[in-house]
Amino acid sequence: MDLKLTRSKPSEVEADAVVVLVAEGPAPPELEKLLGALYTSGEITGKAHEFTLLHRPEGYKASRLLIAGTGKPEKFDTATLRRLAGAAVRFLKPKGIKSVAFALEDNADAVSAVAEAALLGAWEPDYLKTDKDDKEKAINSIFIATPTSGPVLNAALEKARIIAEAANLSRDISVQPPNLLTPLTLADHARRMAQGCGLAFDVLDQDRMHQLGMGALLGVAQGSANPPALIVMQYKPAHAESTAHLGLVGKGVTFDTGGISIKPSEGMEKMKYDMAGGAAVIGAMQAIARLKPPIAVTGLVPAVENMPGSRAQRPGDIVTSLSGKTIEVLNTDAEGRLILADAITYAQHLGCTHLIDAATLTGAIVVALGHASSGVFTNDDALLEKWMTAARQAGEKMWHMPLDDEYRELLKTVYADIQNIGGRWGGACSAAMFLKEFAGDTPWVHVDVAGTAWLDDAKPYMAKGPTGIPLGAMVNLALNWS
Ligand code: BES
Ligand code: ZN
Ligand code: ZN
Repeated sequence: MDLKLTRSKPSEVEADAVVVLVAEGPAPPELEKLLGALYTSGEITGKAHEFTLLHRPEGYKASRLLIAGTGKPEKFDTATLRRLAGAAVRFLKPKGIKSVAFALEDNADAVSAVAEAALLGAWEPDYLKTDKDDKEKAINSIFIATPTSGPVLNAALEKARIIAEAANLSRDISVQPPNLLTPLTLADHARRMAQGCGLAFDVLDQDRMHQLGMGALLGVAQGSANPPALIVMQYKPAHAESTAHLGLVGKGVTFDTGGISIKPSEGMEKMKYDMAGGAAVIGAMQAIARLKPPIAVTGLVPAVENMPGSRAQRPGDIVTSLSGKTIEVLNTDAEGRLILADAITYAQHLGCTHLIDAATLTGAIVVALGHASSGVFTNDDALLEKWMTAARQAGEKMWHMPLDDEYRELLKTVYADIQNIGGRWGGACSAAMFLKEFAGDTPWVHVDVAGTAWLDDAKPYMAKGPTGIPLGAMVNLALNWS
């Protein structure tokens, strides 16, 4: 996708369509002549998300003009602008339009929000469709037209491009079906990404995991014919401004059948997105390698397939994790926390001082928060604040969930140090509490994205399927670090 900043008036841009934003209220003076009648008839009001498409607009070089309502000025924010830009792209695309220009003010936040949302909005989950008709309807150029240009706007555009391309890489990986995306092919994607942008790269295979004693991760992997992989991607800044070393850990279950505690068949196909946290980390590492924040960042993705093969672990098995703690596996479907436990400990061995983990961890978080916000748990308020700021800037909604010691009671067992499930209630909290046991004193934030990493239905601004969340927050966290 071509993405460019052009210094030109809306009427001067050469594109198949130019998008002009109007706030609720009377016609802006410069549009009065062209749109007066449409305002009088009430066809254009400027209400949020109102689209009016004009063909061959007089005085414009573009062959179409899309008037996009932004609503009441006091309610208009960057989140609304993002959705509007994504929706505009998705509105124009099926009409065979190839190039779209957005007319904006000289505002870096607006430029990056629109550029990012336009690239995300253009993405489709149809890479395995062979019918060419739909696919030919693709937008290949986005222009941002501003009154002036300069280094600030250019930098905003570049940052948006890098983040959106990383999010779309993450979505390209997540959307793959589980027969094609196994732990080893997931590692191949990460390797290609790391080689492409100069990151140090390593994959721990099953033998290495045995040597190290990653019993929790290996226990999950043993039911599948597809061997596990622990993917490690490392970014080191040329000039570190901090002694902190950020660890980003993403759940990489390429398919979650539940194992011996098998899931119902209805809807099981959705469990191909159980590696979305891992894909977000792979994408975030690409963006970090390109944007070069002044802090060391290591991305870790424990990748496994949770299958009920004849060698599968059983409910009642007790495994010894890398940390040395023993775990009674009472439900083999609570596998995410098992692989994350060993990845978190390994991140600590690599010297990570601060940890973020992202995981499609529990159905319970979807019950609690639905699909609008991800659930956030922490053992460190300072890191939480940094995380929430980074997420807000990325337009990714997060909700702080409780994690007090009471939840630890739910994980007590007489047979081992901890058991892998709590009771019936508060499942997202007991899952987070399990991870906290392994994070120990390292400042850590856990993000449960089970409700937000995947859209079951398309939104006006985004296709159905993977969203890339919480990649934006991860990248901003590294960029904001000081
Ligand atoms: N991958 C699932 C969680 C999930 C559920 C993600 C729905 C996305 C949508 C996870 O491994 C799981 O199965 N969790 C169990 C935990 C239970 C056995 C304690 C769950 O949420 O039911
Ligand atoms: Zn599961
Ligand atoms: Zn799972």
